[in-house]
Amino acid sequence: MSAMDKMLDGMPMGMRNSVTNTLDNIGLMLSIKNPKVAMSMAPSAMRGMVMKKGKGSDAVKMHSGHAVHFDLNYGTDFPEMWELYRRAVANQWDGERDLDWSTDVDPMNPENCILPEEYAPFEGLAAKGVRFNAQEKQRFQADMAAWTLAQFMHGEQGALYAAAQVTESVQWLDGKFYGATQVMDEGRHLEVFYRYLDSKMNKVYQVNDNLFVILDDLLTDSRWDVKFLGMQIMVEGLALGAFSTMYNYTREPLLKNLLRYVIQDEARHVHYGVLALREQITEHLSPRERREREDWAFELALLMRNRFMSHEIYHEWFGGGARLSLRDWNEVVSEAPGMKAFRQVMFQRLIPNLEYIGLMSDRIKQHYEKAGLATFLGGRNATQLSGEDLIAENDALSAAGAEAHNNEAA
Ligand SMILES: [Fe+2]
Ligand SMILES: [Fe+2]
Repeated sequence: MSAMDKMLDGMPMGMRNSVTNTLDNIGLMLSIKNPKVAMSMAPSAMRGMVMKKGKGSDAVKMHSGHAVHFDLNYGTDFPEMWELYRRAVANQWDGERDLDWSTDVDPMNPENCILPEEYAPFEGLAAKGVRFNAQEKQRFQADMAAWTLAQFMHGEQGALYAAAQVTESVQWLDGKFYGATQVMDEGRHLEVFYRYLDSKMNKVYQVNDNLFVILDDLLTDSRWDVKFLGMQIMVEGLALGAFSTMYNYTREPLLKNLLRYVIQDEARHVHYGVLALREQITEHLSPRERREREDWAFELALLMRNRFMSHEIYHEWFGGGARLSLRDWNEVVSEAPGMKAFRQVMFQRLIPNLEYIGLMSDRIKQHYEKAGLATFLGGRNATQLSGEDLIAENDALSAAGAEAHNNEAA
């Protein structure tokens, strides 16, 4: 036990939680090694973690100083992006027409549950002395599902604006065509996640502070390629990890279908992201700028791995802290089966893309190795994976999971 653990142990629970929180926020900034990266993230960390801008009001203003690149040439300049644009136009779907909103969804129904029991951290909680009865378990699972879906919705709103900003900034006309379809895609994603939450879950959680920091950071950065890297590679990777995990676990047919459509769109978004960034990073950036992007991506990857601990659920269920400390909660959640599955898919998608776009020098590779993420090097990148491939991969995983579940039950 460290000196800090001993000190925390001697404190009343409320104080212990607030110290854990503060150390956590300071730790976020101190863990960033590159001072330029720390400087660029600090204002967003301040707004998200300290001022809690994502909570408590109806709207928040974010100022971005990016330049609009107005094309005067109108010629074909990136055929692969034009291809993606045509494919995106042909594959537009309609959330109203293509999803069966008459499906009766009951978040408390164990038969068709949104997230099943094996997703939730009940074992870890029991090891910490927290035991739920059957009804509490169902309510907890429903809350976890509502929290996760709400974060999807907030992320989609961020994606909508980032896609619009990037469409203005990119220097390829074919990229602008493509970007226009992504703006439409993200608008539709926002529409369907909101509709699902509003009409089926009856509960909408506020944006998680860490997610807010990431969204604020990339929406306010004036450098289009940083915005692009943040949204098209990092956050889309995170989203694919989270959507795929939910797609694999859920037994609720409407949500499964909704996610199937969304995942196919997201595969295209990441594909576009790697095409644009590979050219930008390998052809147009200086070694110093490339190094800074590398560090930024690495920090963001750690942030995404370590910090989505559903604190909103903790405060709702264990608010006073009498039954469970925030520290124990963090430990339980990070080891939960659903969380592990999510991290696995997220990094399996993310790392090969960073490699493909030229942000995996030997220098930064060592950091990924230390963080235990090097196993994903050499995997298939977004140009080698279509939306159909992703769904097929997920369906195979779901089938294997269902079989294991049935064998266990037998
Ligand atoms: Fe999206
Ligand atoms: Fe997207």
